[in-house]
Amino acid sequence: MEILTAFLSILLTLGFILIFSCSTKALKQQTKPPSYPLIGSILSFNKNRHRLLQWYTDLLRLSPSQTITIDLLLNRRTIITANPENVEHILKTNFCNFPKGKPFTDLLGDLLGGGIFNSDGELWSSQRKLASHEFTMRSLREFTFEILREEVETRLIPVLYSAADYCGGRTVDFQEILKRFAFDVVCKVSLGWDPDCLDLTRPVPDLVEAFDVAAAISARRATEPVNAVWKLKRFFNVGSERRHREAIRTVHVSVSKIIRAKKKCLDIGGDVSDKQDLLSRFLAAGHDEEAVRDSVISFIMAGRDTTSAAMTWLFWLLSENDDVEKKILEEVRNKGSLGLGFEDLREMSYTKACLCEAMRLYPPVAWDSKHAANDDVLPDGTHVKKGDKVTYFPYGMGRMEKVWGQDWDQFKPTRWFDEEPNYGTKPVLKSVSSFKFPVFQAGPRVCIGKEMAFMQMKYVVGLVLSRFEIIPLCKNPPVFVPLLTAHMAGGLKLGQLTSDPSADDPARGNKHVRNPISASSRSRQHQLATRSAQGQLAFRS
Ligand code: HEM
Repeated sequence: MEILTAFLSILLTLGFILIFSCSTKALKQQTKPPSYPLIGSILSFNKNRHRLLQWYTDLLRLSPSQTITIDLLLNRRTIITANPENVEHILKTNFCNFPKGKPFTDLLGDLLGGGIFNSDGELWSSQRKLASHEFTMRSLREFTFEILREEVETRLIPVLYSAADYCGGRTVDFQEILKRFAFDVVCKVSLGWDPDCLDLTRPVPDLVEAFDVAAAISARRATEPVNAVWKLKRFFNVGSERRHREAIRTVHVSVSKIIRAKKKCLDIGGDVSDKQDLLSRFLAAGHDEEAVRDSVISFIMAGRDTTSAAMTWLFWLLSENDDVEKKILEEVRNKGSLGLGFEDLREMSYTKACLCEAMRLYPPVAWDSKHAANDDVLPDGTHVKKGDKVTYFPYGMGRMEKVWGQDWDQFKPTRWFDEEPNYGTKPVLKSVSSFKFPVFQAGPRVCIGKEMAFMQMKYVVGLVLSRFEIIPLCKNPPVFVPLLTAHMAGGLKLGQLTSDPSADDPARGNKHVRNPISASSRSRQHQLATRSAQGQLAFRS
């Protein structure tokens, strides 16, 4: 017995020495978090699980090559990179070696099936080809822009006016309004179906809520330190996995209903506008109902929360940067008084720079992973083994001094121009490598909705800013939550909206004259003081 106790003590001591030496070595290298035999970095991972963005970013800053590797118990090795050359290699040069892979498609498979967002190879490329017709300049101009114009003029702006007119001191969540708006737009474009979510007096439709739940739980699966945990929960249909299953059922049933209605409509001839949406294209190509359902769900997922997240962060950043807001207004006003047309939007380069700058700091897709099909070596010398998870990390990249310079932490739209844009001159955006700024991904799988997204965001930012001033209720910096698509924790809360009853705006439906924004900016200090005194005023036109 004594011999056994002595033997166990020696074994334990040796174990501690081994663990301590490995941990110190890892700390010295700084390209890996502390890692131990067998369990890898699971302890540090678990400790930082709720602040992974910051943890990865800190480690990447310390890494000489801006790449780190993380080993986790029973999980494949993860390589995370913020190095633009590595990103180009993964997304373009050796694209075929970095598919999404089964581990990724397993995470999202229950919700997205074989849709474009969750497939590789032929299944992916055939959907991409078919969908590309929806995103041509012609389709954007003739179909999508009209949907957008209608949604902004007849819903978004009136909703904001009525919130402004409401004198009860109620707060509104601008992020929620933008999410509902984006959901309407993407459903009209993808399904040719109008969920009419912007009626704030009604609860959000079940489909929207089910999408939110399913997307959030799918995203959380990826942050479990051990994959087996969520798989077991799914097997026994308990906890979050049970809610996930129910939410997915709601999404599938609702979308299938819309598909059947559309089929019926197409069978009986429908009018031309019924045939321009993505769903009609997929049905016309002869895909079966399940494949069509998966395809359109992917598009809704990809298009719904991304633009609203980017705009929410931009509106918040503008509330902190009066000078930038003024320049956007200048650009919008230079387009004349007839509202913004499709061609005007294409010329709004200062607003585009502001959107890029907001997404550099707060990317709607914070990270994205592939899985190596074969062994490889990244340009910075990192060895990749078959099966490794390889993650490029837009959030960290936007915060690297090596990539963006010492002023990376400043919101500075001028960094997107070669020369400082001046009033009256037409600023020209400089060309920035999409591997340095992979916010829309890059290479063959670059976001197919990128142009549509910019069009939508410029239109909304231009029209909203020229009518309303946005002053968030909370003065503390908001918290960025990544999930599948990122959002602002708690939303962007605005207080009572006030509007000038003399503003003349057809979208409002009665006579009104807009307040000069420059004057409103001058009175911001007073506004803030009034707001804190009354605890409500935060948003005015
Ligand atoms: C600010 C807005 C947007 C951002 C930042 C963004 C970003 C991205 C990113 C990072 C990906 C790659 C994701 C991955 O492969 O895992 C992606 C793919 C995709 N995006 Fe977007 N997106 C935006 C808006 C949109 C919109 C409005 C649509 C239109 C419906 C859209 C449709 C898609 C589709 C279909 C894919 C999959 C492309 C493929 O795999 O070939 N996106 N997007």
